[in-house]
Amino acid sequence: MRRPAHRHLSRGKSLNKPGDAVYSWIKLLHVTCVALSFSLFFGRGLWLFTGTRRALWGWLRIMPHIVDTLLLASGLTLAVFIHQYPFVNSGWLTAKVLGLVAYVAFGMVALHYRRSRLVARAAWVVAMLVFAYIVSVAITKQPMGFLAPHVF
Ligand code: HEM
Repeated sequence: MRRPAHRHLSRGKSLNKPGDAVYSWIKLLHVTCVALSFSLFFGRGLWLFTGTRRALWGWLRIMPHIVDTLLLASGLTLAVFIHQYPFVNSGWLTAKVLGLVAYVAFGMVALHYRRSRLVARAAWVVAMLVFAYIVSVAITKQPMGFLAPHVF
């Protein structure tokens, strides 16, 4: 039987080395940034499309940059821990990075494209679907995530 690429990827093992504890903390930071990133994006879109000026508040414009930078940095740090690298030896991490690029791109169209409300709203929904796809890739460790036929 093929062993998991790294013991961190096999569930249910107890922490037995200092490195494991560090890994767990970084993963907690990563998942916290995931939740914050989604909440900020969802909230800003909601406020923007319902005409609330709150979406334009200073801290609401700066926070996403900090959170998304931490999200990427913590993800890359976790990747180094498990010796899996996007575009090198890990299909699911490559999928996550490409997904992240798509999420940021659709997110920019959603929140900054002023010419058409319809395009902006559609991009907002697509960005959240892409986000859900990235989470499914993270959980399944498969590049297809919830798009894989056997998931349904
Ligand atoms: C919007 C972008 C991202 C989202 C939504 C996301 C989501 C998640 C989630 C939910 C987990 C926990 C999975 C679990 O406990 O089973 C996770 C773990 C992880 N993520 Fe991300 N992630 C993102 C970006 C990235 C990036 C860019 C990288 C690195 C290139 C990365 C690398 C990892 C690694 C290595 C783990 C740990 C896997 C494990 O130990 O189980 N993530 N991510």
